[in-house]
This record gives sequence, C-alpha cells and structure tokens, in this order.
Amino acid sequence: MKKIYVCQTCSFEARKWHGKCPSCNDWNSLEEELQDQKKSKSNKHKSELAEFDIRPISLIPSENFLRYLTMIKEFDRVLGGGIAKGSLTLLGGQPGIGKSTLLMQACGQLAKLHPCKKILYISGEESVAQIADRARRMGISNENIIILNERTLENIKIILSKLKPTFLIIDSIQTTYSQEIQSIPGSINQVREVTYQLMNETKAQEISTFVIGHINKEGSLAGPKTLEHMVDTVIYFEGEKSGDLRTLRAIKNRFGPTSEIGLFMMNKEGLSQVLNPSEILMSDHHEEVSGRAISCVNEGSRVLLVEVQSLVIENKFSSGRRISQGYDVTRLSMLVAIIEKNLEIPLATFDIYTNIIGEVKIKARDLDLAIIASILSSYKKIILPRKSIFIGEVGLAGEIRKVKNFKDRAKELSSFGYEELISSNKNEGDIEGIQLKKMGKIESLISITG
Ligand code: TYD
Ligand code: MG
Repeated sequence: MKKIYVCQTCSFEARKWHGKCPSCNDWNSLEEELQDQKKSKSNKHKSELAEFDIRPISLIPSENFLRYLTMIKEFDRVLGGGIAKGSLTLLGGQPGIGKSTLLMQACGQLAKLHPCKKILYISGEESVAQIADRARRMGISNENIIILNERTLENIKIILSKLKPTFLIIDSIQTTYSQEIQSIPGSINQVREVTYQLMNETKAQEISTFVIGHINKEGSLAGPKTLEHMVDTVIYFEGEKSGDLRTLRAIKNRFGPTSEIGLFMMNKEGLSQVLNPSEILMSDHHEEVSGRAISCVNEGSRVLLVEVQSLVIENKFSSGRRISQGYDVTRLSMLVAIIEKNLEIPLATFDIYTNIIGEVKIKARDLDLAIIASILSSYKKIILPRKSIFIGEVGLAGEIRKVKNFKDRAKELSSFGYEELISSNKNEGDIEGIQLKKMGKIESLISITG
C-alpha cells in the first residue's frame, strides 16, 4: 500500500500534501488515500488474433436498445425516450432537492407498467422504514419494489446475483463503499471504484441502474470528471430549495440527446409534472411595466415562452453590479458590454438586475435579444409592446443571429396570441398571423425602444 494525496475536487493525485491543489487550485481539497499497488497486474493476455472478436463495421448488426417507459413524460423525455436496458444513469443534485423522491416515483411507475420485473432500491442513507413510509405517502406500495439498507459494494453484488433485478437504484454513491479500498466512503477513490464496478454489473447482467450522487458546494458531483466519462448518462435535478419548481436536465446521454429538460413541481404528494411550462414562466399580472420582455426559446424538443425582467438603476457610490437569476451572469455582463459598445449607452455606473420568471435556469442563447430589449426598456423607462416577442442570439459585434426552427417556433406564437416577432434578418419566410420585424444588428432596436 502506498500513501497518496488525492484532490477531492478534480481527482489530481500527488505524492506530497499541498494546501492548494496544483491542478485546480482549490484550497484544502487534498486528502490522504492508500493506493493498492497490486491491482491490475494481470498477465493473462490473449495471444492469437482468432481469440479476439474482430469484425468490419458493416457486419455488425444494429442494436435497437430496449427501453422501459415510466410514462412520467418529463422523465422519459430527458432520458431520450425511456430507460435504456442495461444502462447506468447518474442522477446528481443538491441534498434535499428531491432525487430520492423522483426515483421512488419512477419505481412506482415501473412496477405498475412492468409487473413481472423486479426493482431493487438500495439506500445507504435512510432506513427501510423511512423509505417505505415515504413511498406509501406517495401512494406506492408494490411487492416487486424491494428496498434494502446496504452500504457495501461486496454485499450489493451478492444480492444482485441472487435477486436478478431488472432495475437497480443506488441511493447514494457517496454512502456506498468497497471494503477492498482503504479510502473513506465518498472519497474520489471509493466513488470511482464503486461506479466502475456497478457499471460492470449493469452491463454483464443487463440491469438498468440509477446511481444518485449529491453535488458538493461547487455544484459538481464528487469526482465529477472521473464519474461522467464512466457512466452512460448523467442527469441533474436542479431548483431553488425555497421554491417548488424542479428542472431535470441531461448533461450526457449515450442513448439520446442532451438538450432535453423536464419540469416538475414538488408538492405534498411528491413530484408532479409541469406539462404546460409557459404558464409558470410568465408572470400572472400583465401590467404594463418597463423592463419586461418576452421570448420564446427551444429547450430540446420543447418550445418555452419565457418572461425576462430587468431593472437598471443608477449606483451613485460604486461601479455597477450585474446580478442575474436564472441566466448565466457572465453572459449578462457580455450583453451589457455589447449594449455599451454598439448603442453607446454608458452603463458602468448602473446596477443591472435580470430575472427569468419562474425559478428556472434557461441556457438557450436565443434569449439574448429579449434580455437586451428588457435592459433597454428599463434604462429608457419605455414599456415594450405586450404582444411582441424577441428571439435571437446576439454576437459580440451586436449582430442578431439566425434562429433554428424559425418557422415552427413563429407558428406556435400566433396560437399564444402574440402578434409581432422581432428577430434576425437572416430568418427566412413569412408567417401567417405574425408581423415579422427583421433586424441585422441591435442598433435597430432603437425603432422600438426609442
Ligand atoms: P428527497 O427526495 O429526500 O431529496 P434528496 O434525495 O435529493 O436529498 O426530498 C427531500 C425534500 O422533498 C424534503 O425537504 C421534503 C420534500 N418532499 C415534499 O415536499 N413532498 C414529498 O412528497 C416528499 C416525498 C418530499
Ligand atoms: Mg435522498
């Protein structure tokens, strides 16, 4: 056994202890771990070419991965159309956000829809009584859902070989450990080894596995880089704990696209799906106020109407702050710089607050134009036309970029009662029922904001 020091943030390995990780510069993140030197020294190698499965790509039949639906639409869609058979999915999120609740609900549905399949829910965090109580409160009680409190990987493997479940939930990766590794549960070495071994079991026995992982203070899973490349799918469950809205987002998916999001509300009976998100993404009051702009963005296959509110207010005492809720603050600062440069509006001494209504994080860049319009609207104290929509990513020179699926999106807007669409002049075609205002650069917004 050799003593090494492993960074718990980026998994950098060092022979000596450092106060600051030489790789990611995080402070106090190095922890002592013991490395097993005997490992992986197998000298059994195949010697003849005939012993390998070598085939040209054209002779390999296509494999249609079997998928299990939970009929929780928001969940199935994020996974790329259900749970792929023999796949391992990592579900990350902050403690208390609702990961156990979400997967227990998925178990309830799987038990109902696939009555002959066994579902094994292993928790190292809660007692079986706690889990069963919560499940019953959510109306889940089924003899095919087997719950167990277990933390050691070696015992989990024995149970898997005896019980042969179709679905496996490990709650959580941080509490599961291998007795063969000297490091403490939750350390990078443990988390990596447990995930690796669970991945092997998943593939060998064609189990569909979910592994829950709590995210640390920096917002990443413990040992994120080492886990993300090992597993098939990584999904994150996000939201403000103070609010009820939760977003499920795929970060990586070997069995589907990664752009999809699923929306849920946490209530007394567990999580309910939000099937019409535009309702919660728009403020209820339709008072005519400055600083408000509407956009319509694509998140995966879904079209969302989004309301942006900005407040631009002079800061007489220091340089202006940029604060954003639901949108990347670095991008907000960039958009402010684009306004300053292209419209020659000095904003350095103004505080700018931008808020996306409905506690949801929007990553789509098509929101740029609406953010700029809302900032201009607040700065100039001008109310934007209520039935106008702003769509388009904005480049550094102030150019408004072309929108993907422009026609489809514009068509949806008329059904919501919107009348005018402001977007790039590179978008082609006319849309019935919608007046199009096509612009090359943000300077043209002056025709609306004055
Ligand atoms: P949980 O799924 O235990 O979170 P995680 O596994 O991500 O740590 O959810 C915990 C929170 O959810 C807890 O604060 C209570 C709340 N909750 C509800 O509001 N309603 C419910 O029906 C359930 C089961 C939990
Ligand atoms: Mg939990």
